[in-house]
Amino acid sequence: MKRVFSGIQPSGEIHIGNYLGAIRNWIKLGEKLGRDAIFCIVDYHAITVPYDPEALAKRTFEAALVNIAAGLDPEKVTLFVQSHVPEHTELAWVFTTQTPVGDLTRMTQYKDKAARQVSVGAGLLMYPVLQAADILIYKADTVPVGEDQLQHIELTREIARRFNGRFKEIFPEPQAFVDPNAPRIPGIDGKAKMSKSVGNTIGLLEDPKQIWEKIRTIPDDPARIRLSDPGEPERSTVFTFLKYVAPPGMVQALAEEYRQAGVGTLVIKRILFQEIMKILEPIQARAAELRRDPDYVWDVLMEGAKRVRPIAQATMEEVRQAIGLLRPR
Ligand code: TYM
Repeated sequence: MKRVFSGIQPSGEIHIGNYLGAIRNWIKLGEKLGRDAIFCIVDYHAITVPYDPEALAKRTFEAALVNIAAGLDPEKVTLFVQSHVPEHTELAWVFTTQTPVGDLTRMTQYKDKAARQVSVGAGLLMYPVLQAADILIYKADTVPVGEDQLQHIELTREIARRFNGRFKEIFPEPQAFVDPNAPRIPGIDGKAKMSKSVGNTIGLLEDPKQIWEKIRTIPDDPARIRLSDPGEPERSTVFTFLKYVAPPGMVQALAEEYRQAGVGTLVIKRILFQEIMKILEPIQARAAELRRDPDYVWDVLMEGAKRVRPIAQATMEEVRQAIGLLRPR
C-alpha cells in the first residue's frame, strides 16, 4: 500500500455509518501512510442530485470540519476539497469518452438514485466516472470505503485497465479496502443501510436528546410481547446496532441475559445510547473547538489542495499526451 484515496460527499450530515464504515479506517490508514493518505470532500459529486446552491459551500466546509473532529488528523493526512483541484473533472471527461454507457446504467447506486428523481441529470450517470478520476489522478492503490462503493471501485479498475490497454500504462488498478467488521452499518430503523437519503441516520453532531429519542423509539424485538418473554437478540434491531458500537464481551453478556428475559429492551436501549455517546462526545467536543477556530480548517483545506494539485497536474499532463492532444507551445 503506497497511496490511499477516499472521498465523502458534503450532501448532508455525516453519520455514524460513515464513521464506522469509512472514516475510522481512514484514520488508521493515515497513521500508517501520512501525507499519502488523501481524503477529499467531493463537492462535484454532491451536485449530481438536486441541491441547494446556498448551502453547498457551508456543507463542504462543515464536512471537512466534522472529519477532523472525528479524528482525521490533518497534521498527518491530506484533506482537501475536490473542486479546488479542477484536474479531477478534466480527467473525468477523458474517462467519460472511454466508458460504455452500458457500464454506467448497470450501477446499482445509479439505478437507486435515478428511481428517486423526476428528471435524471447526465451527471448522475457519470458519477462513477468522476469517482474513478478522483482515485486514478493520484494513482492511488487502495481505496477505503463501505461495501456500498465496491461496484464503483470495480468500475474504476475497468476504466484504468481500458485506458492502459488503449493508450499507455499510466494507472494502477486500485483495490477497495472494506472493514470486515463494519462493511454496511444498518439504519437506526433496522431495515436499510444507514444513509442520508433514507433518513435513518444518527449524525455525528446530532443533539444527544434527539439521538435518545431515535433510539427509544426503535421498534422492539417482535419475539418479546411481555417483559417476561425471552428475547431473541438476533431479531432485535437494538442488538444488531449494539454489536457495532459496544465491546463484544459486553454484547455477549447482555444477549445472554436478554435471552433469559433478565433484562428489558429499554435497558438495552439505554446502554446502546451510552455506547454511542461514548463515541460521539469527544467528536462533538472537538467540533465545537474547531468552530471557534475556522481558520484552522481553512488552512488545512488550502494546504491540502496545494499539496495534491501538482500530482494531479502531472498525471493529467501524462494523459493529455497519451491520448494525442495538441499541446500548447
Ligand atoms: P458517501 O459520501 O456516500 O459515503 C462516504 C463513505 O462512507 C461509507 N458509508 C458507509 N459505510 C458503512 N455503512 C454505511 N451505512 C455507510 N454509509 C456510507 C461509504 O461507503 C463511503 O466510503 N461515492 C462516494 C464518494 C466518493 C469516493 C470517491 C469514495 C467520490 N469519489 C473516490 C472513494 C473514492 C460516496 O458517495 O460516499
